[in-house]
Amino acid sequence: VRTPLTDSHGRRIRDLRVSITDRCNYRCIYCRTGNDGAQYAELPLADYLRMVRAFVRLGVEKVRLTGGEPLLRRGLVEFVRELAELRTPRGDALDLALTTNGHLLEEMAEPLRKAGLQRITVSMDAVEAEKFSRITRVPGSFERVLRGVEAAQRAGLEPVKVNCVVLRGFNDDQIAPFAEFARAKNVVVRFIEFMPLEEDRLWTPDTVVPYAEVVERLRTAGRLVPLPETTPGETAVRFGFEDGKGEVGIIAPVSRSFCGACSRVRLTSDGKIRTCLFSQSEHDLYGQMAHGSTDEELEAYIARAIAGKEARHHIGEPGFLKPSRSMVHIGG
Ligand code: GTP
Ligand code: 5AD
Ligand code: SF4
Repeated sequence: VRTPLTDSHGRRIRDLRVSITDRCNYRCIYCRTGNDGAQYAELPLADYLRMVRAFVRLGVEKVRLTGGEPLLRRGLVEFVRELAELRTPRGDALDLALTTNGHLLEEMAEPLRKAGLQRITVSMDAVEAEKFSRITRVPGSFERVLRGVEAAQRAGLEPVKVNCVVLRGFNDDQIAPFAEFARAKNVVVRFIEFMPLEEDRLWTPDTVVPYAEVVERLRTAGRLVPLPETTPGETAVRFGFEDGKGEVGIIAPVSRSFCGACSRVRLTSDGKIRTCLFSQSEHDLYGQMAHGSTDEELEAYIARAIAGKEARHHIGEPGFLKPSRSMVHIGG
């Protein structure tokens, strides 16, 4: 067994997020500009599989598929089946999850579950239909996504997590209603502080609704009970409610950054390793592969890239540089 991946700050890397397409069928205001064409060519899924295998041999235990919108990718179900068959050096199956906007989930939940997907996160930024489609810029999207969430629950992808990026002036009035929604629907809702990762220049410090304010607003939905951390490096601070019904979480990369325990790296939709959401450069793993690297060479390349992982982000500090690519290319 090889030495597990560790960066130069002593953080063990266990978590790989793979963007399998940068296409998306939504155009959420906080993510993309109006144009909806994909920017990069899609790589064959067999090539992603080879790259993921190399990460797994080096100790990655958690794989999350993202996009763009991953459900748009042809061959996804078969790909999930192959990922579900991978084993860590200790012989365990991967913790296999996917992040989706939910638009195609009603049809896909059951096949994905059968293929071996274990967990799903659905992005939803409002619980009012009209507000929802104003954010996604697709009419009728709320009803569809809701049916997708219910299909995921029926398929046994429990607990379904719902992610809500909170933007001041757009959906900050949705926080308490979302908590009610979590309690009524039995989903885990997580509120995310908006980060400067969008294509339009929408982000300013004022657009962020910070952790403390989210907590304040949640109190109107019921008395909060803090829940213990389940895994080290967990992004969300979790709360239950006094009556035991429902769970909410707050992901606060801006006001309470969790970089010190970061266990994540990303593979972009064009096969580049991104060691931080806010990296200023990437490592072309796919390029290495295309030039005929052996598996051992790929592993050495990955280990070198990870050794140089950034200590933390610098959002809000003087000299902060927004990354050259937005979330839709990097993957959530
Ligand atoms: P699980 O613990 O596997 O459920 O996943 P998670 O907690 O990483 O949550 P998820 O994958 O749903 O990510 C939720 C959101 O948290 C993302 O969409 C990002 O907005 C934010 N996030 C996730 N990972 C990072 C990270 O490494 N850095 C920063 N700054 N934000 C992150
Ligand atoms: N800040 C925080 N989270 C974001 N996401 C997309 N853009 C941003 C941003 N600028 C999240 C969405 C989605 C996931 C893929 O990434 O909520 O759940
Ligand atoms: Fe990790 Fe970078 Fe996110 Fe910080 S900003 S948690 S270092 S990926």
